[in-house]
Order: sequence, then C-alpha cells, then structure tokens
Amino acid sequence: MPGFELIGQEERDALNALMDEGGVFFAHGFGAMRKHYHIRELEAEFRNYLSCHDALCVSSGTAAIKVALKALGVGHGDEVITQSFTFIATAEAIIDCGATPVFAGSDNTLNMDPAQLEALITPKTKAIMPVHMLGVVARMDEIMAIAKRHDLAVIEDACEAVGAKYNGQYAGTIGDAGVFSFDYGKTITTGEGGLLIMRNENLAIKARQYHDHGHINLPNIPRGQDRAGISGFNYRMSELNAVIGKVQLKKLDYIIAESGKRYQALDQGITAQVFKKRVIPKQVTPAYDTYIVEIDSKDVRDRAIALLTEMGFGTKNLPDAMNWHCSVYWDHMGFDTRTPAQLETLAMLERQVAIPVTLGKSVDDFAKLAAAINGLSA
Ligand SMILES: Cc1ncc(COP(=O)(O)O)c(C=O)c1O
Repeated sequence: MPGFELIGQEERDALNALMDEGGVFFAHGFGAMRKHYHIRELEAEFRNYLSCHDALCVSSGTAAIKVALKALGVGHGDEVITQSFTFIATAEAIIDCGATPVFAGSDNTLNMDPAQLEALITPKTKAIMPVHMLGVVARMDEIMAIAKRHDLAVIEDACEAVGAKYNGQYAGTIGDAGVFSFDYGKTITTGEGGLLIMRNENLAIKARQYHDHGHINLPNIPRGQDRAGISGFNYRMSELNAVIGKVQLKKLDYIIAESGKRYQALDQGITAQVFKKRVIPKQVTPAYDTYIVEIDSKDVRDRAIALLTEMGFGTKNLPDAMNWHCSVYWDHMGFDTRTPAQLETLAMLERQVAIPVTLGKSVDDFAKLAAAINGLSA
C-alpha cells in the first residue's frame, strides 16, 4: 500500500529526466533519440533484487497473470485451481484464456488451504494459482508438493506480496511463474504496471513474445521487419511507468522495514482474546502491508470498524471491498459461486477486519490504535 504515499521529488525527477533524455516512452527502438531502455533496466534490477532468472515488465498485474497462463498453454476446456479469497482479476484472467476457475477455500492464514487442494484436481486441471493475499505468502511447501505429485504448474499470484518471503526466498519466485502488480494501491506502484517471473527459459521466451504481439525481437534488424513467434497481444509496459518503477523499487526495502514496525506495534499491542490474529506460517516474512484480526462478535466487530474510521485508519478490503475479493459474489462470471468451500470462505471473511498499514501514520499512532482496539473488548 505505501508506495503511493512516498511518491515525491525522486519520481518527479525521474519523469523529467526521461523527457530531457529524449522523451521516448516506448520500450523498443528509437535508438538515436534515447539514452536508456528503462524497461530493460527495471527488469534487470528486479532480476537482481528477486534473485531470479527472468523478469518481464507488463502493463498490469492482471496482464501478468494472463501472459503466464498463455505461456503455460492454458486454454479452452482447462481448469485452473485458485482460491475463493482473491481479487477478481485472478478469475478474470483464467476466464479470458477460455479456462474455468475452480476455487479452494482458505485456511487460518486466509490463503489457499492445501488440505482442500488435492480433491479439486481433475484430469482437466492445468495449473494451480495460490494467491498471497494482503502481504502473506500461502503454504507453498504443501502446495508445491501437491503440484509436483500431479505434474501441475504453479503460478503464484504475488500481486499483493511484493517483497514478502517464504523460507527466505521472495514470493513469486517459488512456483513455475510469479506475478506482481504495481497498480496505485500496491506496496510499490508505477500507476499501472505488473511483473512476470517465469522459471523455465522456454516459457519465459513465450511469455515475452505473447505480451508483445508475438515479436521475437531479433537483434540487429528493425522492429518493423521482425517476425512473430506466436500469436500474441499487447500487454507492454511504457517507459513512463518504468522510470517510476526504478525509483519505487529503491524504496521497497524501506517500505517493508517501516511497515514492519507498525505491524509489530499492532501485533504486540492487540492482546485481548476476542481478537484472533491471522496465522502467519513460520516460513513467511510478510510484506506487512495489512494487519488482520478475526472478531466473532458482530457487536465488537462493528465497533472496531467504527473505531478505525474514527481514528482515520479505515479498513482495507475486509469488509469494505468484499465484493471484489470473494468469489461468492461473482455470479456474472458464469461459474459455480456457491460450493461449500466458497461459502465457508465467505463466512470466515465476514468475521475479519483488515487494518491498512500506512506510513502516513507513525509507529506510535499504531500503538495507540492497538490500545484502543483492546479497549473494545472490555
Ligand atoms: C491478488 C491480486 N491479483 C491480481 C491483481 C491485479 O493487478 P492489477 O490491478 O495490476 O491489474 C490484484 C490487484 O488488485 C490483486 O490484488
């Protein structure tokens, strides 16, 4: 979340520098007019930061999911297992490929429950897409083991977990593919934008071609004379987004460290039994952008939400944007929205209150908030 809070002089300078050095907003060509290929540089910086082999900048997190699915060959008649608590884009990208989303429920981490996963696998299953919701990585050890047993690809939807880790490894680099979003509400932002990590070199080449009309981008020949490797689409990022991305990536470690202090103030300060804390698997270092408590009593929950509004924190998605984050609400999309797993997830989500961790408020503000929340249990 805090990326947009830190937009300032550095981002302004980066945009001005882009204008001064020739004003080329396109990723390719125009060599005589430019000093940098910013998207290529941003991709190299992400490869270095995430310690991964390949990184592809795209126009959004949704585009990143779609490109990953296409590269993996997901199409008509296929099923992709994801989770009921996600953002609607996860399901949209699957449907846009002609495939059907299948929804696992969440466990007490609020992410995909691995115990439900195996029973959902059918001969039509082509991939599994766990979603690392609100900064916390799903139980990847179990999910990867099940995927391996059934020879299925895993796409990590890490749109909400840039910078989070699992066993010391960055979210998004564990599965066969990983996707990030840099939309305006994410931990770091380029306004709109996304990143795709592919672990397999051949699939990475396919993804790169697919996001750019199939261009194979042969070196040393003009782009107009280039050939198409596959039938693709346009999901390219602009250089405008990339220059902002380079600045924001430099702020990521600071954002996570500062968010972590505020998150810990809540975690240490909220002690009353009525507030059940989201379970964070021991392997996980969160991105700390959201703190979630489950409150069974509707009265205490309503008072907690009112308190958060009154103190100027508000809530984040739970409960204010449930329609966009729970598959039960997506009747318009043409799949079964009422399986027991989805209904159980909805019931669980209705008991959660998610507190946004913002840098606009101090650690002390969060400590005071924790004390005020505790007071509600009296
Ligand atoms: C879990 C998840 N997946 C996918 C997306 C889509 O990302 P974008 O908004 O960049 O298309 C989002 C963005 O909200 C998200 O939270």
